[in-house]
Amino acid sequence: MNEYMEKLKDEHDLPDEAMLSVLRTDAFDDALFAAADAVRQRVYGKAVFVRGLIEFTNYCKNDCYYCGIRCSNKEIQRYRLDKETILACCANGYTLGYRTFVLQGGEDPYFTDARICDLVQAIRTSFPDCAITLSIGEKSRDSYRAFYEAGANRYLLRHETADNAHYASLHPASLSAENRKRCLFDLKEIGYQVGSGFMVGSPGQTAENLLADLRFLQKLDPDMIGIGPFIPAQNTPFANENAGSLALTLRLLAVLRLLFPHALLPATTALGTIHPQGREMGLRAGANVVMPNLSPTETREKYALYDNKLCTGEEAAECRACLETRVRTAGYEIVTDRGDVRRG
Ligand code: 5AD
Ligand code: FES
Repeated sequence: MNEYMEKLKDEHDLPDEAMLSVLRTDAFDDALFAAADAVRQRVYGKAVFVRGLIEFTNYCKNDCYYCGIRCSNKEIQRYRLDKETILACCANGYTLGYRTFVLQGGEDPYFTDARICDLVQAIRTSFPDCAITLSIGEKSRDSYRAFYEAGANRYLLRHETADNAHYASLHPASLSAENRKRCLFDLKEIGYQVGSGFMVGSPGQTAENLLADLRFLQKLDPDMIGIGPFIPAQNTPFANENAGSLALTLRLLAVLRLLFPHALLPATTALGTIHPQGREMGLRAGANVVMPNLSPTETREKYALYDNKLCTGEEAAECRACLETRVRTAGYEIVTDRGDVRRG
């Protein structure tokens, strides 16, 4: 056991069989969390970075089986924010100290490349000292390049699962793991700081799948890795499936911190949703980013990727205060700069 921990701490890797053993048992968890926290404190100290999240459209042309905003879900009310509202969310976030804005949405055909570029340019002009992150799904390389040239710096696109067959069991045939991965490598080549990641405990997921996720991430070498438990969403094909577990999500956060000492790892809303102290535990297991919601209060509950999602009632300032307390309780400190990755 100590041999695994030593290897993880010194070499930031483990052979496949050893990694599978670590993933499959809770026996190493305390040692993993301690090792992950030591690595994180070495690289980032007690800093926790903040990204203001603006969920600007819940229209989506895709039909992922797990996702509450899939196009087949006719039970949810759809919305789009206009440019003025989005800029007002950014201004609100700027006042709260945030220097990174994440524009996240479904794959909404209304938001053509021209509209996204216009939006990015407007934010870039109004907030020249802020990082602009897009999280709007799979696009062509040319589109990604256009957004980059308009002023976007970062892009979040979780690979969801690296295994082709598992990917096919979570998505309709129109989507493929291959195209998802193509997008991620395109984004990197263009020059974006890239975030990827996966759901923990999605239906049918095996330890081997998780190992494949880790190996894929080692190939991609992203700046940010977002993971959170799968949580069933009503009116989706997976409405009655079990949620991913807190323990496995925390274990993976710690493993990710050890494999990727410099990565930005968010303590996600999904983690906070499956346990009241989930995000605090995530921070102690190696996470170093929180993503407070900046969306207008009226639209929040409509961005229902899964059931009982957190922070749907709060104002942006309340979200900020809530996270500030949680981060401090966990023993860390919120830092309000751009929070760029620190490469070794
Ligand atoms: N449970 C947990 N996470 C989900 N996501 C989408 N649907 C769910 C769900 N039911 C995650 C996906 C996506 C991110 C924006 O939200 O990983 O990439
Ligand atoms: Fe929107 Fe999957 S349902 S990206």
